[in-house]
Amino acid sequence: MLTTPVASVASYADLRALRRQDHEIAEIIDGEAARQCDTLQLIAAENFTSPAVLAALGSPLANKYAEGYPGARHHGGCEIVDAAERIACERATGLFKAAHANVQPHSGSSAVLAAYAALLRPGDTVLAMGLAHGGHLTHGSPANVSGRWFDFVGYGVDSDTGLIDYDQVRALAREHRPRAIVCGSISYPRHPDYALFREIADEADAYLIADAAHPMGLIAGGAAPSPVPYADVVCATTHKVLRGPRGGMLLCGPELAERLDRAVFPFTQGGAQMHAVAAKAVAFGEAAAPAFAAYAHQVVANARMLAGALEAEGFAVLTGGTDTHLIGADPSPLGMDGRAARGRLAAAGLVLDTCALPSGDGRGLRLGTAALTTQGMREPQMAEIASFFTRAIREADGPPRRVRAEVRELAGRFPPYQG
Ligand SMILES: Cc1ncc(COP(=O)(O)O)c(C=O)c1O
Repeated sequence: MLTTPVASVASYADLRALRRQDHEIAEIIDGEAARQCDTLQLIAAENFTSPAVLAALGSPLANKYAEGYPGARHHGGCEIVDAAERIACERATGLFKAAHANVQPHSGSSAVLAAYAALLRPGDTVLAMGLAHGGHLTHGSPANVSGRWFDFVGYGVDSDTGLIDYDQVRALAREHRPRAIVCGSISYPRHPDYALFREIADEADAYLIADAAHPMGLIAGGAAPSPVPYADVVCATTHKVLRGPRGGMLLCGPELAERLDRAVFPFTQGGAQMHAVAAKAVAFGEAAAPAFAAYAHQVVANARMLAGALEAEGFAVLTGGTDTHLIGADPSPLGMDGRAARGRLAAAGLVLDTCALPSGDGRGLRLGTAALTTQGMREPQMAEIASFFTRAIREADGPPRRVRAEVRELAGRFPPYQG
């Protein structure tokens, strides 16, 4: 008798089968899972997806080719995956109160580049946060297609307060008359003033593109203001605070919907990854539940607590705190620069990034609380973690073994996945 795929449904993404077949890769997956459980994930862009999201990612939807959009595909057999994409779009537009959603971008970068493709022509001027102040590579880095094909002008943050210098944004917009203004950052811990960005964009007759890759989950949970009413296009990732699969998404009003869709497929991407689209739908469903709003608010409460505790430990916290999941902290008052501090913290099992500082060439530390909060950690654990930071940096004789053991113990009490 033929075994239909449906009969083996229970075994897709079966790790036991992988272990039997490909020991080498299975070991890597087990090793990475163990690393994630045994250290603390403070990388601001990371989170732990739910088992339901992982199940969608490891499903047979991964096999399906689906170039185009629901009801208008270049491939046969798309009726079922069409339903997944329609649900993902409906959930996204409902969650973010937007007229139109495109859930196909393979990543946050793909979403931003598709927004440029929809609105700009090569050579156009774009005003975005400078890379040294927290702009993303897609905001005009010469190493990225954005910096090669468009003429980016960078705005920055005030060197004393670390806050966006809106007077500078306005002055640069008046001077350069950009075709688009981008608001959004990889490290800015405060809410952008979307209404003010809109005003400045209108004055310059520019499009406003909000790159909300970082705060999108906070927006979904009502813990951060939404750029949707102000921006022409909102770009986002689905894997940060939003806690979905790795990927991107775009939101816009009805007037740009068709242009944006064409900019994603066929202009900058090929076939949609239907397993990721389905996983995004699952994540949007989760993010619409009251428990997610509580999660998003706890992410911010934890970040505020951790920022305050780090300040009390002697770190210089950028902008004096945070309104989001993101914290920027300069360890130099403790006698160490950001790069060296990151190494010592990593040795203690505290995994995070460095970031640019508002003035000078030094590096600070960039961290976030999305993953810790998913694990169930609350304010008391944030205070504990802040003390790990100082001890890992100060215990400068040899590796910080005692702190490493305590980090392992704390991580062990809050496993990201049960069972
Ligand atoms: C502001 C911003 N835009 C775009 C991206 C790109 O996302 P991805 O890495 O999925 O391409 C990021 C990623 O961290 C980001 O922070």
